[in-house]
Amino acid sequence: MSKDLSIVVNGLKFENPFVIGSGPPGTNKATILKAFKEGWGGVVAKTCSLDASQVHNVAPRYGKLYSRENKEVIGFQNIELISDRPIEDWIKDFKEIKAECPKGILIASIMEEYDKKRWQDLVIMCQDAGVDAFELNFSCPHGMPERKMGGAMGQNPEMVGEVTGWVTEVSKIPVWSKMTPNITDINVPAFQSIDNGKGHGISLINTILSVIGVDLETLRPMPTVKGYSTPGGYSAQAVRPIALHHTMKLAKAFRDNPKYKDISISGMGGIEKASDAIEFILLGSHTVQSCTGPMLQGYKMVHELKAGLEAFMEKHNFNKVEDFVGHSLQYLTTHSHLNELKQGKFESKELSKDIEWSGDNIDKQTKDMASN
Ligand SMILES: Cc1cc2nc3c(=O)[nH]c(=O)nc-3n(C[C@H](O)[C@H](O)[C@H](O)COP(=O)(O)O)c2cc1C
Repeated sequence: MSKDLSIVVNGLKFENPFVIGSGPPGTNKATILKAFKEGWGGVVAKTCSLDASQVHNVAPRYGKLYSRENKEVIGFQNIELISDRPIEDWIKDFKEIKAECPKGILIASIMEEYDKKRWQDLVIMCQDAGVDAFELNFSCPHGMPERKMGGAMGQNPEMVGEVTGWVTEVSKIPVWSKMTPNITDINVPAFQSIDNGKGHGISLINTILSVIGVDLETLRPMPTVKGYSTPGGYSAQAVRPIALHHTMKLAKAFRDNPKYKDISISGMGGIEKASDAIEFILLGSHTVQSCTGPMLQGYKMVHELKAGLEAFMEKHNFNKVEDFVGHSLQYLTTHSHLNELKQGKFESKELSKDIEWSGDNIDKQTKDMASN
């Protein structure tokens, strides 16, 4: 490769910005080592907690939304909980992984109840095992909120600030907080985490609350476990535009105040191809994560990510990834500004007034009015 794909984020050198998002692709030593050996720059491990004995998964726990024509998976739902593996096993794994792959950036994703000592004990255990950074899971939407963990905590901005503060009080390594999109404005808890909690970065987004569908034979919602279901978290391609919006909104808010110049963003939601990842970087992400992507395509998808990023950098003459982090933010403006720019001048096929919709060829008119 002729281009340097590395990026330094919060003092950590990622060989490339591609990071496995917390979930099945980073759920034990075998999977994490596989990711590093395949070429991923970092791995956020599956979320661990102090007491895994309370975690009981069900199956089936995934559901897919297919495109109507070619049956491609465009949306993915899970009702999976955090890791069911004892913390002692995780600590052993973390040590062995760092010994075997010292250059791979290993991020522990942690979640606990609203209890300072529990959070700090967990931080110290993982930190002593040699992980490079923390991602605080304030965002998983199902299961754990019943114990006021994960998404339930993330929907309470003051709590996000306070808990991040407990972590940064004892942590000597970078701390990212992972946001739930199941809230009106992600920026509110994100700023709490940075301002009050003294966190170093924000990861976004976790999954979006969803019901993937209803089986029209059995009339049961899916995924169906012994005849019943429960709402889950939505991921994959379908969520990307929503994730891009959250990313750009936060990145713009950070960019507008020099006080936040060292705060990092790790964007995710539907990244499956290099072009997807590049969009997140252009809208302000320093690193990008993917979870459902490798679940559907395997770890090898990182080869296309790296080749595509390099080709993009060649084409646009960027030497370093950081040269284009947030580059496209400058082109996002208000609707009234767009109107000023347009100055009422429309191409012949563009509709300028609602009365021009004909009713007979609404599909063609819609096509003419779309940019892609
Ligand atoms: C099966 C599955 C399990 C997940 N488990 C976790 C988890 O333990 N902790 C966490 O922070 N996020 C978890 N996530 C969320 C992902 O890390 C990611 O935020 C989300 O899926 C959006 O990214 P994607 O479209 O690349 O998957 C999980 C996602 C899936 C699909």
